[in-house]
Amino acid sequence: MSLKGQIDTTRLPQHIAIIMDGNGRWARRQGLRRIFGHRQGVEAVHRITETCTALGIRYLTLYAFSTENWNRPKEEVDALMTLLIDTVEKETPTLMKNNVRLATIGDTDRLPSAARSKFTNCIRQTEGNTGLTLILALSYSSRWELTEAVRKAVQQGVAPEAINEEYISGLLTTASYPDPDLLIRTSGELRISNFLLWQLAYAELYFTDTLWPDFGEEDLYAALIDYQKRERRFGKTSEQLSNTSNI
Ligand code: IPE
Ligand code: IPE
Ligand code: MG
Repeated sequence: MSLKGQIDTTRLPQHIAIIMDGNGRWARRQGLRRIFGHRQGVEAVHRITETCTALGIRYLTLYAFSTENWNRPKEEVDALMTLLIDTVEKETPTLMKNNVRLATIGDTDRLPSAARSKFTNCIRQTEGNTGLTLILALSYSSRWELTEAVRKAVQQGVAPEAINEEYISGLLTTASYPDPDLLIRTSGELRISNFLLWQLAYAELYFTDTLWPDFGEEDLYAALIDYQKRERRFGKTSEQLSNTSNI
């Protein structure tokens, strides 16, 4: 059976998060400059967004640029910003066609103003779309987000006894989205790199050696099949989940 045929469409994750890694290595392996890997990575974003749309996934969060990525050589940062500016404009008609709503999380004030205005336009244009919500993490890091959350809490003068998990979740940039069910990281690295530390508390983790520019439909199906083999116990026992008492 094809990989797609093995997916139980009634048990899909509601929210998939992806650490899109390996663009630079993909380019280097072919003797190309790193930016060619980033360009090819945009093609993978296009493919995976369309695949998620076709499957009926509700939320897809993509780690596109981290707070730490500002420390890369200026030439690479500039090229990435130019690529973002070009891509968001070029992809808006496809997002409209596929009924995708675009959102961003992160310290987007740090982006060049041209990028900010392109994103604002695209977010505004797609805000009424009711299909997939595509969330781009840009200039994002979890520690930045948590630091901001603490700052907001202090500004609100919250009483200590009013602080609970819901209150904290509500202060995060992801307040209006459910937590990811599945985290995928490409390129063989086995780390979280400051991504959604609070929100990934109970996500299933999936790592693949495939480099992001090579990640396609079939790779996503393989991740979903693996995800569907997991038992998500959330601290309970297997017996509790299957409702059999077997102490
Ligand atoms: C991921 O690919 C994209 C960004 C972080 C912007 P990398 O650029 O990290 O590629 P590698 O890990 O160096 O191969
Ligand atoms: C994580 O990838 C950030 C993004 C995918 C945007 P990196 O390549 O920057 O992560 P590290 O530094 O190898 O952990
Ligand atoms: Mg990397």
